[in-house]
Amino acid sequence: MDISKLMFKDGLMQGQRILVTGGGTGLGKEMAEGFLKLGAEVHICGRRGGVCEETAEQLMSAHGGKVVPHACDIRVAEAISDMNDKIWSGHGALTGLINNAAGNFISRTEDLSIRGFDAIANIVFRGTFYMTHDIGKRWISAQQKGNVTSILTTWIWNGGPFVVPSAMSKSAVNTMTQSLATEWGRYGLRFNAIAPGPFPTEGMTKRLAPDADSTEDMARDRSNPMGRIGEMHELVNLATFLMAPGAEYVNGQTIAIDGAMYNATGGNFYQLSAWGDEEWQAARSAIEATNAKDRAKRTV
Ligand code: HXC
Ligand code: NAP
Repeated sequence: MDISKLMFKDGLMQGQRILVTGGGTGLGKEMAEGFLKLGAEVHICGRRGGVCEETAEQLMSAHGGKVVPHACDIRVAEAISDMNDKIWSGHGALTGLINNAAGNFISRTEDLSIRGFDAIANIVFRGTFYMTHDIGKRWISAQQKGNVTSILTTWIWNGGPFVVPSAMSKSAVNTMTQSLATEWGRYGLRFNAIAPGPFPTEGMTKRLAPDADSTEDMARDRSNPMGRIGEMHELVNLATFLMAPGAEYVNGQTIAIDGAMYNATGGNFYQLSAWGDEEWQAARSAIEATNAKDRAKRTV
């Protein structure tokens, strides 16, 4: 990310303590960097503890400040509660949460097994709730304000062919956002969400566009009206707007940041209807190789 394009003044997020799930890589890492640069203490978690440690070291050596890595699988409610106990007792209460961790891959729905569905739904649908519930209860019992932003996709509005478990789960998290904004607003808690278009990351590209020669190919294929992919500082500026003090009356909203792609084209993977068995087999083999490589680095 080009740090000089962050819109906000230094020190804006001083005093904030924010957990970014899946903050070791991709968009989570970018948001962690932005919040750190603006003065927040940042906690990041993922199943690959070593990846989170490397990211924390890298961000602190670039910007100073405090980034704390945690090995935590958000599919396991007890692991979430243990991590949050450690954060609260070792560092202090969180002030904010970014629900960013996710799993996804393209597949014809008729090729999915139940385990394949669960592999995604258990992270996005269940894990996101477990995390939000654990942290929300802590804020309510301490009568403390809190702020949650969840990272969704534009498929919550028009469906996600070939990524049905993700589209269903992200839609559910959108419903959680609206529901808790309404139910827990009275406790001073707010819930918003961001629906990004393509901001290619390694984790995403290798599972959603395993055939693309480059990330630019992917954006072109999907005909973005602005003719480009998203730039990381654009996403980080939006997340900062939602997470920093100053916009507390924004509650229960989901904001797309996709260059108008979903308005123009639907923004989803409908074009994969053109694929036959051969393309799907090749994509699956490539995705499964990525899954295996990442799984080998997991420490929890
Ligand atoms: C069909 C597949 C498959 C594929 C895996 N499975 N890949 N089925 N097509 N391409 C099936 C397996 O065969 C298995 O079922 C089941 O899924 C579980 O597979 P595992 O590899 O054992 O799962 P696990 O180790 O739990 O890994 C979880 C994962 C993996 C979700 C499959 O991709 C992961 O860890 N992802 C984390 C990072 C990630 O996905 N990032 C991308 C986010 S991008 P069987 O029955 O065979 O045992 C995003 C939106 C982007 O979310 C929007 C862009 C616009
Ligand atoms: P990514 O780099 O693969 O990020 C996913 C992160 O989630 C990884 O760090 C992963 O770490 C973590 N994670 C997955 N399962 C987990 C679990 N069970 N427990 C804890 N952490 C877990 O992909 P990304 O592109 O940055 O995606 C980030 C978010 O943006 C996701 O919510 C995605 O749906 C959303 N999004 C991305 C795009 C895009 O264009 N990139 C567009 C729309 C939406 P471990 O594997 O170490 O656990």
